[in-house]
Amino acid sequence: MKRVSLWSPKGGVGKTTLALNLAAAAYASGKKAIVCDLDPQQSAVDVFNDKQLSFSVFKGMPPVTPYGDIIFYDLPPRVDIQIEGDLVVVPMRACVLDIRAVNKSIRHVRHKQILKCVNAVDVRRHDERMLAMRMYSEGAFLIKDRSIYSRAISMGKTVFDTDLYGANEARKEMLRLFESLYSGLHAEASRVAKS
Ligand SMILES: Nc1ncnc2c1ncn2[C@@H]1O[C@H](COP(=O)(O)OP(=O)(O)OP(=O)(O)O)[C@@H](O)[C@H]1O
Ligand SMILES: [Mg+2]
Repeated sequence: MKRVSLWSPKGGVGKTTLALNLAAAAYASGKKAIVCDLDPQQSAVDVFNDKQLSFSVFKGMPPVTPYGDIIFYDLPPRVDIQIEGDLVVVPMRACVLDIRAVNKSIRHVRHKQILKCVNAVDVRRHDERMLAMRMYSEGAFLIKDRSIYSRAISMGKTVFDTDLYGANEARKEMLRLFESLYSGLHAEASRVAKS
């Protein structure tokens, strides 16, 4: 079983959005996924309270590891916490302050595999696009700014449970990210970028 943490020192960068949509992408790829909401805000639990889902959302750490192919841990934006799993997906925005904050605190997870995700990139903005492309050349995964992510969450859904405008492209993006981290391709990309 793969264990993946969604963690970042920054708040509001998409940890919960990615945990839920990646779990739905896992299901769409024929894998059983579990989300453990380890954030005291319990956003993931709140979003999916009482909903019929393609995956389970646990409040906190389950006493016994549930059966499945992959677990996503949705963590709070703090550095004084235990980070679960071997792989850490680190979402951030395409801005210098986020990149600096992540670089400063990344030693917290230095013994783990790390996949930086530049999230909500507004490709119409030249500065964001340039910064995101630089991060991409260093092995980061890019996710576009798409209102469908917040529209789906506001209905208690993932982009896999709606056919609203933009959902199809968002699904493809989430499937690419899921396949990359499930197969370990992200590690290859980071190695190539470092060499
Ligand atoms: N790719 C995206 N495009 C547009 N909006 C996004 C994207 N990803 C996330 N968002 C929006 O950004 C906001 C913050 O996302 P989210 O709650 O997932 O962040 P978080 O890192 O979990 O926050 P917190 O640190 O408070 O737990 C939400 O309104 C979400 O819908
Ligand atoms: Mg969150």
